Amino acid sequence: MKRLLIGHSAPLRGAVAVNGAKNAVLPILAAALLTDEPCEIDGVPHVTDVATMRAILDELGVRTDDIKGAIRTRPGAGGTTASYELVRMMRASVCVLGPLLAKRGTAKVSMPGGCVIGPRPIDLHLKGLRALGASIEIEHGYIVAHATRLRGAHVLLGGAFGSSVLATANVMMAAALAEGETVIEQAACEPEVSDLADCLSAMGARIAGRGTPVLTIEGVRRLRGVRYRIIPDRIEAGTLMMAAAITGGDVLVDGARAEHLGALIEQLREAGVEIEPRPGAVRVRAPRRLRATEVTALPYPGFPTDLQAQIMALMTVAEGVSVVTEKVYPERFMHVPELLRMGAQITREGSRAVVKGVPRLSGAPVVASDLRASAGLILAGLAADNSTELRGIEHLSRGYQALGAQLVALGADIREIDDPDGGRTGGEDALTLESFQEMRGDGVR
Ligand code: EPU
Repeated sequence: MKRLLIGHSAPLRGAVAVNGAKNAVLPILAAALLTDEPCEIDGVPHVTDVATMRAILDELGVRTDDIKGAIRTRPGAGGTTASYELVRMMRASVCVLGPLLAKRGTAKVSMPGGCVIGPRPIDLHLKGLRALGASIEIEHGYIVAHATRLRGAHVLLGGAFGSSVLATANVMMAAALAEGETVIEQAACEPEVSDLADCLSAMGARIAGRGTPVLTIEGVRRLRGVRYRIIPDRIEAGTLMMAAAITGGDVLVDGARAEHLGALIEQLREAGVEIEPRPGAVRVRAPRRLRATEVTALPYPGFPTDLQAQIMALMTVAEGVSVVTEKVYPERFMHVPELLRMGAQITREGSRAVVKGVPRLSGAPVVASDLRASAGLILAGLAADNSTELRGIEHLSRGYQALGAQLVALGADIREIDDPDGGRTGGEDALTLESFQEMRGDGVR
């Protein structure tokens, strides 16, 4: 396993292209289970979560091949079990549940395990599928589900923390092949959910209300194969925009869709950054020092929780006092102690962090707890004196195809170095709160 060595960065300059959206492609690949025909998905990012989803599809009898930047899926008779070994690597694996149930009438999917960004129950997934008539039991760590043919129903998918992206995806995919009409209320409105709806529609599904909290799905008997290009990754785009902002740079982020990034654009403008939306791109021009701002992570179209760690990094060096509130995952603050090690001034009270901007951070060895925390710490490293050594970068490759290389192309000083300890490998649940504290040297509390 490698580490990243991040040097203090001059203002980033130039143009950079955004890859396809990780969180769109995962459910879209799962949708290949809904058809007997091959599918071709374009713009798939080379990230380890995609490799995990391909391994799960393989387990379920769907072969996947790389063909010139796309993935072709070839359905075959296969199992109905998604094993613990794979599901523990990636919680998003749970989105094979709806398709398996709808197409094969039975599904056995490992219960996803613990997660470093806080509790992530799956009650809404189960509630939605039960409403469509599935019988579901939890047996020996597996969700065991059966249905002869699912039937359309009225389903409310709102939970204590708002809507759920993957529960909406699961129920939408199942409803596409159910008998009759399904209405999902409090559906997630994230662009990745709309992308799935568009892909399913191209496969012959009948879905109305995409992008709104009410989805109406008229079930059909069969879905056909599809050739589909997924949307650019708004979280990668947002991360690159903030890399430009924290270095006082001038960068054209090609593939950033301003219409998917409204909340971030508003926050960056408040912080003093000039944002110029262009067709299919966004140009970011930042001042020498940013201004403090107030940010609340919320379901879409609110500020994305997946950009919370990154904007907090920006606020650590902004002028004034910022408040960052997390309403999607109230415990997603594992980056805070690492930012403190770099000289940031942050006090955390429950789901809120108060960040007093300092003129400069100070490079230090830090550990990434998860995918987005890694990105936040890289941005912090760009604004820190000397060099920052980031461990735990296996998380980064779960969702960013080449963030380091993209930043280097814009002028950043980032190098991969060997990890003398051999590092750690493993899946999402491999890094628990305890193991993270242990790795950081805090001991287990
Ligand atoms: N929730 C429930 N019950 C459920 C499902 C979710 O209470 O059955 C709660 C969660 O605990 C959380 C909130 O609802 O408080 C939202 O969770 P959601 O279900 O929307 O999350 P997800 O679908 O499991 C996706 C992304 C995450 C992203 C969240 C929120 C994928 C593959 N993952 O997860 O992405 O943070 O939506 O936008 O789409 C990432 O890419 O780093 C990442 C974690």
